[in-house]
Amino acid sequence: MNDFHPRIAQFERVVFFTGAGMSAESGVPTYRGTGGVWKEYDYEAYACQPAFDADPAKVWEFHNFRRRLVGACAPNPGHTLLARIERLLPQVTVVTQNIDGLHQLAGSRRVLELHGSLWRVRCAGCGQRHAGRDVPFADLHCADCGGWWRPDIVWFGDALRADVIRDAVEAIADCDLLVAIGTSAVVYPAAALPLEARRAGATLVEINPEPTPLSDAYDVSLRGTATEMLERMCEGLALN
Ligand code: OAD
Repeated sequence: MNDFHPRIAQFERVVFFTGAGMSAESGVPTYRGTGGVWKEYDYEAYACQPAFDADPAKVWEFHNFRRRLVGACAPNPGHTLLARIERLLPQVTVVTQNIDGLHQLAGSRRVLELHGSLWRVRCAGCGQRHAGRDVPFADLHCADCGGWWRPDIVWFGDALRADVIRDAVEAIADCDLLVAIGTSAVVYPAAALPLEARRAGATLVEINPEPTPLSDAYDVSLRGTATEMLERMCEGLALN
């Protein structure tokens, strides 16, 4: 960590780029590292289209388990801070890799979900989408075409939604501050998106207790948890 201590109050157009570490303080397990989801579950058996095609019920069982677990978690003070900042600054966008919906529950309004949502399903047949928080999700077939409802999550091997990527790149290319929070920066193409802010001349800040492969691309890396470091960055903001 260097001595540069950026404060959000100095900026107007901010993008918060979040990963699983953002929700760790809510009790949502991260994907990698100790206790990580992919340490316990093989993504090839639970989080890719071939696995769903082979055994949709098994894949749904895993996602119903995740719905139950995540549904019992509440936004943490870090999520709430982002929602409050959005009300104070002219332009704030949350670009998230998270599928837990906690930013929206905390009150953030402009949220772009790069990897989809645990709380939305998509028909594998006709492509229509449906949002809802029912656990377990038991209505497995689309009434219109008979296709399987699958989680509207970007699984391994799936393409990201072009409209979401476009909006994210637009927000990032137009920001003066980008804060990446709680991501290991190893899953592409999402991992590289924050670096688009560099070309826009923005200040880049990383919040993560651990270094990441992209740490050197940031102006400053704040080594601590999401809430603690966000609170530091909020000094000087009239949050109350
Ligand atoms: P990871 O699990 O790969 O990384 C979580 C990061 O959060 C790590 O770098 C931790 O050091 C950091 N971290 C842990 N606790 C933290 C805290 N309290 N405050 C701040 N940071 C903390 O999660 P992602 O980078 O989000 O894809 O993973 C990217 C994608 O891989 C996910 O979106 C997911 C997964 O496969 C899908 O679900 C489609």
